[in-house]
Amino acid sequence: MRAVVVALGKIGLPLAAQIARAGHEVVGCDIDPAVVDAVNAGEPPFPGEAGLAEALQETVGAGRLRASTRTTDAVAAGPDLVVAVPPLAVDRRARPVWRALDAAIRAIGDGLQPGTTVSVETTVPLHTTRSRLAPLLEQASGLIAERHFHLVFSPERVYSGRVFRDLATYPKLVGGLSAAGEARAVELYRAFLDAEVWSMGSAEAAELAKLAETTYRDVNIAFANELARIADDHGLDVARAIEGANSQPFSHIHQPGVAVGGHCIPVYPRFLLAGAPDARLPRVAREINEAMPGYAVDLLGEVAGRRVLVLGVTYRGGVKETAFSGALALRDELQARGAEEVLGHDPLLSDAELEALDFLPWHGEPVDAAIVQADHREYADLGPEDLPAQAIVDGRGVLDAERFAGRVKRLGRP
Ligand SMILES: NC(=O)c1ccc[n+]([C@@H]2O[C@H](COP(=O)([O-])OP(=O)(O)OC[C@H]3O[C@@H](n4cnc5c(N)ncnc54)[C@H](O)[C@@H]3O)[C@@H](O)[C@H]2O)c1
Repeated sequence: MRAVVVALGKIGLPLAAQIARAGHEVVGCDIDPAVVDAVNAGEPPFPGEAGLAEALQETVGAGRLRASTRTTDAVAAGPDLVVAVPPLAVDRRARPVWRALDAAIRAIGDGLQPGTTVSVETTVPLHTTRSRLAPLLEQASGLIAERHFHLVFSPERVYSGRVFRDLATYPKLVGGLSAAGEARAVELYRAFLDAEVWSMGSAEAAELAKLAETTYRDVNIAFANELARIADDHGLDVARAIEGANSQPFSHIHQPGVAVGGHCIPVYPRFLLAGAPDARLPRVAREINEAMPGYAVDLLGEVAGRRVLVLGVTYRGGVKETAFSGALALRDELQARGAEEVLGHDPLLSDAELEALDFLPWHGEPVDAAIVQADHREYADLGPEDLPAQAIVDGRGVLDAERFAGRVKRLGRP
């Protein structure tokens, strides 16, 4: 098989290496020349992906994987499969900003040849594959979908950092615009994946599956957050209650937390809701989760005129990503309630990066109050001498609360 993978990011590059490692010939395309140069040198352009360096050395070294900035030329060579994983940016309200995805699809369309199967893996709102991407490919190529080329949607479901492991274990979901196209794509995916490949019946079914699995997590976390607030009202321990509930096999309650952040979980329920104006549960779950930073500030007490520290500005521990981070919502909430200063600390961010996000960098000086927003491993070791604050809310349950002699409030814990 000959394949082209478009967008060599945290997801696309391991996928390209996976296809090449299965013995196929792959061209990986990216608009960033630095990414292309690194890949052609056999080096990962980003850190943290287990097994990627070895996979690149093996496949680039053997000449089965090469990178290029020329997507249209690579597609014009007539590969069997084109896999597209470009980013889909969103605005502050999690609405799609289509520019990058459209540009990548047009570049593919400009080179598209009869007989090629195109698979889009970027998470999209319902009907995007059929109603937006197919027409873009047809306009650019002059070809007709399902007559001259196939288009399928196959959501990327892996977790960055362990992509190869997830590719080997999670079923690959494939949904086409036609039964023939779907069958052809299933056959092509089976040629390089050890995991099961599932035929979903339509592109829309595959789109919905991805939105469902991410929205499930948001709804589940919202339920855990609601339980935490009930536990607070009744002086009960939510952690023990969830542990108890989950001790039989029908209960899978997640953990409460000060915020749901990152590129995926706060965003994809909004994609789902955009096509489902009458849906209620995901909307309520979003409202509950978006209210949690405000609830955490409530637990701190009066903040007007106080200096308040946010510990952990990335959206979660160990990941340098601030998209939709709860720290930003906490910052806004604290500013709106008249905090004198909002300080920030994060082991993954420099002072300049904190300042760019409107946090005053904190270097251990006493503050009036603090909220732990991200579960960075470093925070588990903090004691009262490292964190001199009158009131502390641990929004992730990472601090050793006993060391703080009653000054730490955890969500849903007496
Ligand atoms: N990161 C994750 O954990 C994850 C998990 C599941 C699904 N996804 C999906 O994968 C998509 C991509 O995520 P990522 O983490 O790989 O992104 P990323 O930011 O790591 O990489 C995106 C890459 O796309 C390139 N690019 C941008 N526009 C392009 C274009 N027009 N043509 C070619 N290349 C282009 C960029 O230069 C960059 O190298 C997401 O939008 C999401 O739908 C991501």
